[in-house]
Amino acid sequence: MIGVFDSGFGGLTVLKEFLRLLPEYDYIYLGDNARAPYGDKSDEAIYNYTKEAVDFLFKQGCELVIIACHTASSKALRKIQQEYLPKNYPESRVLGVVAPTVEEAVKLSRYHKLGVIGTTATINSGVYKKELEKLRSDLEIYQQACPLLVPLIEEGWIKKPEARMILKKYLQPLKIKQIDTLILGCTHYPLMIKDISRLMGKNVKVINPAAIAAEKLSGYLKRHEEIEKKLEKNGKLVFYTTDDIEKFKNFGKKFLGGNIEEVKKTNL
Ligand code: DGL
Repeated sequence: MIGVFDSGFGGLTVLKEFLRLLPEYDYIYLGDNARAPYGDKSDEAIYNYTKEAVDFLFKQGCELVIIACHTASSKALRKIQQEYLPKNYPESRVLGVVAPTVEEAVKLSRYHKLGVIGTTATINSGVYKKELEKLRSDLEIYQQACPLLVPLIEEGWIKKPEARMILKKYLQPLKIKQIDTLILGCTHYPLMIKDISRLMGKNVKVINPAAIAAEKLSGYLKRHEEIEKKLEKNGKLVFYTTDDIEKFKNFGKKFLGGNIEEVKKTNL
């Protein structure tokens, strides 16, 4: 089974792309809704929560876990890969969303002027900037934390003029710098991709990491037969939340773009 982990609903935008491209595999999705958002939490809290989530998914039988949450990918993934996995699950793998996204962004950027938007924790981690700079040393990188976007999206306010006004305020500094590529470094932002693209203008490529993560996962599975052959392929889908089941079903469908039939609760 492939485990997909997020702090809450946002990772469903990533799962949606996995299901589109790789529908044959069995997936378990875990949303830590009771402790979300992660974007304003301390490094220690984000690491501990992510570790518990990954542990839960491995105990359910996952061979591979994708951390769909950019905040957890930025703050916890490296330590999980380097310290936690070798000690606890040396045969299993945990992948994040940052590395695949930056590879694609650098390929697509024409003038090497990139912008990154994300939660406060993701932007403060500087992980996107560091990973981009590893690929090329001549990039101009501009980052912008957008802490109000997650609550606005979760409140269903994306079509309201107030949300567009806030978005404009966040994007303006990146526009002034004339970036040519913008990374949506948060699971929620693909829900506002049309507004973001419109505000940035036609000369800016807007990168949706959810779609890239699916393509990269497909490539990864082709390259790693030893993992791929262990994965069940019955198209089965199981959802877990750490909070209210009905709320997960109702809110989740707008992120997944389809109904969520069966959800189980876990306290991790
Ligand atoms: N999933 C988070 C991310 O992609 C956004 C929500 C949160 O702050 O927990 O960064």
